[in-house]
Amino acid sequence: MTHRLLPAALVLAALAVFGFAGPAGAISAPAVSTAQSALNGATNDGCLSCHGVRGKTPPVTVGSEQKSTYVDRARYERSRHGKLACTSCHLGFKPGIHDASQTAGWLVTAKLTACGDCHADQFAMYRGSFHGNLVFGHSNGKAPVCADCHTPHDILTPGTVAFRQSERVLCARCHAQAEKTYLNSYHGKAFYLGRLSAAVCPDCHGGHKILPPSSPASTVSYQNIVGTCARCHPGANRNFAGFLVHVDPSSPRSSLWVWSFNILYLILITVVFTFGFVHSGLYIYRGFKDGLYSRRHTG
Ligand code: HEC
Ligand code: HEC
Ligand code: HEC
Ligand code: HEC
Ligand code: HEC
Ligand code: HEC
Ligand code: HEC
Repeated sequence: MTHRLLPAALVLAALAVFGFAGPAGAISAPAVSTAQSALNGATNDGCLSCHGVRGKTPPVTVGSEQKSTYVDRARYERSRHGKLACTSCHLGFKPGIHDASQTAGWLVTAKLTACGDCHADQFAMYRGSFHGNLVFGHSNGKAPVCADCHTPHDILTPGTVAFRQSERVLCARCHAQAEKTYLNSYHGKAFYLGRLSAAVCPDCHGGHKILPPSSPASTVSYQNIVGTCARCHPGANRNFAGFLVHVDPSSPRSSLWVWSFNILYLILITVVFTFGFVHSGLYIYRGFKDGLYSRRHTG
């Protein structure tokens, strides 16, 4: 009996997947969060009755930083999380003045893990990354957590123009040197001039599973770099992928070849220009001497 029901069940399941979840899946935010939006009305209004009013709640001190506790309601509601209850991340918070048991360490502990409750895949990748390892393994406050790249309350959808434009500054905040060399590279110049299809940091490094180039699993390791370029440059080979992205011509440690050629180039143009100036100077001097530029001569 169960055997005969199985195909029917499978068909129904397929219908359910393709008929409902399929089209809706791509833009599932409102559907996914109906459970939360039921909470939404009362709770968020409660929180925002204090935090949504500029100046009503005092700033809090996190480490050495002062953080404003104002939350812009309009921006929050327009964001991808607009329908989520505040308490889906601020676990255990109640509207009202918070006692220490609610706030104790929230900004230094739960903010690292709260996102992972709903985004397990990204959390797992991040956890295993160089940044994640610094945060969890070494309590390094300088490495980024989810909200540093995505903001806590104004989450943008990756893939939109606004998010795409933010991708360069995302990393530049902490990696000024890498950004400088990137901006000197072909992609950097093209992206800077508005060509959003050119590669920007996360296209080569990923957003979550960022690892040093020396780690084989890194998207920019010797093992994976060809495949990373090939995502946008079909037919890329080892030779093509050897194109240097982060190269600082003024540093021999960055690339001895590029540095040497840069020095040779500087010597060459100095010699050529010096020769040119001296030559033209002597030529003009001689012209004066011979009266080449005097009126008498024109007749
Ligand atoms: C009656 C006004 C009021 C309401 C309602 C309110 N808060 Fe607060 N909240 C404050 C004040 C004041 C602070 C600042 C310092 C403190 O913790 O005493 C604060 C601080 C915070 C902080 C920073 C915590 C920290 O590390 O010190 C968070 C997060 C927060 N509130 C979230 C919420 C959430 C979520 C809600 C709704 C469930 C909410 N608040 C409702 C008054 C309020
Ligand atoms: C998707 C998770 C998420 C939701 C939903 C969320 N927050 Fe936050 N919130 C965070 C994170 C993460 C931080 C810590 C930001 C940081 O330290 O940079 C934060 C910080 C805060 C702070 C402390 C000051 C600050 O801005 O750093 C307040 C107050 C706050 N949230 C209130 C709210 C209120 C009110 C809502 C609902 C309207 C809300 N939050 C919804 C994740 C969330
Ligand atoms: C209560 C569950 C929940 C929590 C907690 C949560 N999110 Fe989300 N998040 C969602 C839902 C639902 C969406 C809508 C898009 C979807 O279908 O995945 C979303 C969308 C996103 C998107 C946009 C993805 C897209 O395809 O549009 C980003 C980025 C994101 N969340 C980051 C975060 C960060 C960072 C945190 C922690 C500060 C966080 N989320 C915490 C439920 C959650
Ligand atoms: C160093 C910056 C950075 C950090 C930290 C970061 N993200 Fe992202 N995230 C990105 C970028 C860039 C994208 C766009 C897609 C990509 O390149 O992977 C993205 C995309 C996403 C998306 C959309 C779906 C997807 O994978 O494309 C979600 C959801 C998300 N991040 C959640 C998180 C969560 C949860 C954390 C913390 C565990 C986190 N992110 C930490 C940069 C970051
Ligand atoms: C076209 C692909 C590509 C883009 C775009 C790119 N990188 Fe890289 N990145 C690489 C490769 C390949 C390496 C390893 C070889 C090297 O160091 O040049 C690397 C190495 C790095 C390193 C570690 C090596 C070091 O310098 O010590 C950091 C940090 C880095 N990139 C950050 C960035 C940042 C930040 C951006 C954006 C401003 C960016 N990258 C854009 C391909 C890229
Ligand atoms: C909030 C600061 C911060 C942000 C934002 C950030 N990083 Fe980092 N990153 C660090 C710190 C701190 C380290 C460890 C110290 C170091 O090696 O520079 C690190 C290390 C790295 C490494 C390994 C360094 C090595 O020498 O091999 C890479 C690659 C990297 N980051 C790439 C990125 C990319 C790509 C982005 C943007 C998507 C980004 N980072 C965003 C702080 C940040
Ligand atoms: C996100 C997509 C993307 C990735 C990933 C990417 N590129 Fe590109 N690249 C582009 C685009 C788009 C252009 C053309 C930009 C223009 O001309 O406006 C380009 C141009 C170039 C050029 C200039 C000459 C030419 O062929 O047009 C070189 C060289 C190059 N890329 C090398 C690389 C290498 C090496 C990698 C891997 C380390 C890489 N790219 C990864 C998108 C990408």
